[in-house]
Amino acid sequence: MGITNRASVHSPSKPLDPTTIEFGKVFTPNFFLMKYADGSWQEPVIGPMQDFQLHPAAIVFHYGQAIFEGLKAFQQDSGRIVIFRPEMNARRFNLSARRLDMPEVDEGLFVEACAKLVENERYFVPASPGSLYIRPSMIGVEPCIGVRSSKEFYFFIMTLPAGTYFKEVTGGAGSVNVLVSESVFRACRGGTGNVKAAGNYAASLNIITEAKKKGCVQVLFLNAADRAHIEEMGGMNVFFVREGKLLTPPLSDTILAGVVRDTVLQLARDMGIEAIETPLAIREVLADIRSGRITEAMACGTAASITGIGSLQTESGEVIRVGSESPGPMTNGLYHQIRGIQYGQIPDRHGWITEVCTLEPVAR
Ligand SMILES: Cc1ncc(COP(=O)(O)O)c(C=O)c1O
Repeated sequence: MGITNRASVHSPSKPLDPTTIEFGKVFTPNFFLMKYADGSWQEPVIGPMQDFQLHPAAIVFHYGQAIFEGLKAFQQDSGRIVIFRPEMNARRFNLSARRLDMPEVDEGLFVEACAKLVENERYFVPASPGSLYIRPSMIGVEPCIGVRSSKEFYFFIMTLPAGTYFKEVTGGAGSVNVLVSESVFRACRGGTGNVKAAGNYAASLNIITEAKKKGCVQVLFLNAADRAHIEEMGGMNVFFVREGKLLTPPLSDTILAGVVRDTVLQLARDMGIEAIETPLAIREVLADIRSGRITEAMACGTAASITGIGSLQTESGEVIRVGSESPGPMTNGLYHQIRGIQYGQIPDRHGWITEVCTLEPVAR
């Protein structure tokens, strides 16, 4: 079934300045919506953004049947608008759907819907260093008090112009402070940590609020079973540089398989860096940072790209500074590689770029 387009093409009332956009608050005028009822997906439509009117008993409100994705479109210097690795998000979306007993979405349609919506909203894709964040989501909307799967769903996609994710980062890879969560865990074996279930994020909100009070912008989570190993951050995967080697925890059912994580591992190998997926004990990592054996730490994800971690703070208040606290050479090198590919300054050797359209010169 083709996508019906009922949207008009709008332009922002004033040019989008990627250095001042407040991420998460500004939406483009149109969105994509496809409803599921009577056992099948209905007509996919791009049209004006609208509020949903849901029954207070909608299953999403009570039993949390909600999943989402996050990916980005970039405006390259030539005016070409591209999306970065959308097929990986489509695959992960269906992994999330299966885990939460929701209907899968055809992966080709998922990518096409993202591309068609971005094309429609093309004048809202800020130039470098900005991007258009794409947020596909699915919720169970059937009214029913009773713990079971919804029989009705909405799959929808919104787009948001984005500048830098962390207000603290003003240029380049930047550097942020991170709280090590020793008391709150986001995932356990057999749980939903490896999918993008909305509930995972609800469970991390209290410690994120605590982190902010302590001057940290992100939280580093440990494994729930014995609190001994590093897993990932609230919305990003984590890497360390130890004696010139790049280290990250191996994937498991408690870690989200990040698109940027996969990209960083490949780019590092392309750059001749030894990149190793290995369990990382928090005690050893903190000791290695203190002794200077670990020289860099970085957070990786679609929203914030690659960001240096300037310090780790324990819940008891000890602050362990990483290297010189500013992004190190490997963090900067990987940051420039990924940004270069996304903005078209470095050739896309791995086929990571999906072309959407090219802006006519007058519009830029
Ligand atoms: C918990 C978590 N880990 C890691 C990531 C990074 O994933 P990606 O690189 O696909 O954005 C995200 C963001 O989606 C996330 O929410």
